[in-house]
Amino acid sequence: MTVVKNICCIGAGYVGGPTCAVLAYKCPDIKVTIVDLSEARIAAWNSSNLPIYEPGLDEVVFECRGKNLFFSTNVDAAIQEADLIFVSVNTPTKKSGMGAGMAADLAYIESATRRIAEVSTSSKIVVEKSTVPCRTAQSMRTILDANSTSEIHFDILSNPEFLAEGTAIKDLLNPDRVLIGALQTESGIEAQNALVDVYTHWVPKERVITTNLWSSELSKLAANAMLAQRISSINALSAICEATGADVDEVAFACGKDTRLGSKFLKASVGFGGSCFQKDILNLVYLSQQLNLPEVADYWQQVVIMNEYQKKRFVRNIISTLFNTITNKKIAVLGFAFKKDTGDTRESAAITLIKDFMQENARVAIYDPKVEPQQIYMDLSEPGVVDTQKEVEKKVQICQSAYEAADGADAVIIVTEWDEFRDDQLDYSKIYAGMHKPAFLFDGRLLINAQKLRQIGFKVSVIGKNELAGTA
Ligand code: NAI
Repeated sequence: MTVVKNICCIGAGYVGGPTCAVLAYKCPDIKVTIVDLSEARIAAWNSSNLPIYEPGLDEVVFECRGKNLFFSTNVDAAIQEADLIFVSVNTPTKKSGMGAGMAADLAYIESATRRIAEVSTSSKIVVEKSTVPCRTAQSMRTILDANSTSEIHFDILSNPEFLAEGTAIKDLLNPDRVLIGALQTESGIEAQNALVDVYTHWVPKERVITTNLWSSELSKLAANAMLAQRISSINALSAICEATGADVDEVAFACGKDTRLGSKFLKASVGFGGSCFQKDILNLVYLSQQLNLPEVADYWQQVVIMNEYQKKRFVRNIISTLFNTITNKKIAVLGFAFKKDTGDTRESAAITLIKDFMQENARVAIYDPKVEPQQIYMDLSEPGVVDTQKEVEKKVQICQSAYEAADGADAVIIVTEWDEFRDDQLDYSKIYAGMHKPAFLFDGRLLINAQKLRQIGFKVSVIGKNELAGTA
């Protein structure tokens, strides 16, 4: 029976960092080394200011770092020492070439796999942690098999990560399930059991699911596609609510009470963001096209189309409410991260909205409690365009508080559902006092009590709600 004693994780990002930090925390008998090519990222993991914000992450890292948890840029040494290697590198949507804008870019996976093949001096279990198209393990296996010898053997497992940013530590400590896929061969099943033993240090055995490799790879894409589909479904209904006087919160509550549906992921919003949903659905769309299943591809594509529509609809509503022009008007944007409790801005709805406001020549003031100004400038700049950051800086002001952002503003837009923007935490009377009148407020997250803010004097618009609802 294989017993894992030494783990290497390639990729110290949003997934590799928290996942393997929790693993080290729960398995003091296993040495865990997280490696990355980025010196800056590793230096931050070794400092008191970790490179990503996640509630509870600092405690876990500071407890184990230097004991059985290490962060390093020495990728080769960590590979050589390990019995089991998690490949947790980024798999972004391809920007050019075949499948551009849809297929996953597997260059990072391939280069990490090649490195494992080149430098390994003993047998390894190689685990796909990154989200990949179904059958990626086959390509990894071909690379590894070409380099295996009678002394060095490689097994491949798929162990997709289901954590959600913002609740990563909670999700990792108490996962709904852990999924481990393996080739159904003798050595594949032995490797699978070795990883099951690692997880059962803290996860109840019945929550560790074992499947074949391809089911595991596809389940991750399927789970993200279905989660995003629920958001697009409720967002599609939010448009009907606004037009009819139905209230999207009431509809979601009534539907969610059906135990066949469940209440989660039924919150209407300005649209989903994050590095995964869009990328993984497009990945599924591309896979369907490659498999010559155009109707299946169109079905999933619609989830992304609806998400884009929701953002555009929100912007159109803002412009038409502000008397059809926002030129030179000050728009205060509350929140820039793609959701609360994370500093991650990848695919954040805020980026699309603010770019549209800038196109309309509005002045935009942004406040987010966790996102660095440099990140905001980078996200709003167009790649490859000279001096674009300077142009952005002319149109955008980054503020230290919601009050500063709203000062002199014509409209306040809630884009991220940070708790501090709730109406029992932020002094909306103070915000109102500092604004141009009429003072407009657009809630893209169903975060505030519209009635209460209307009493202060705000003109409030909320996604999925019609001001006159229930009165006529
Ligand atoms: P990330 O971009 O934050 O981190 C990836 C890291 O891998 C980077 O720091 C990069 O420098 C490093 N890297 C790339 N190639 C390397 C190589 N050859 N050797 C060493 N380091 C290398 O990405 P993130 O968000 O951690 O995502 C990783 C994977 O996990 C993706 O496939 C993603 O789809 C998946 N995933 C992400 C979730 C999330 O919430 N962010 C949740 C579940 C899965």
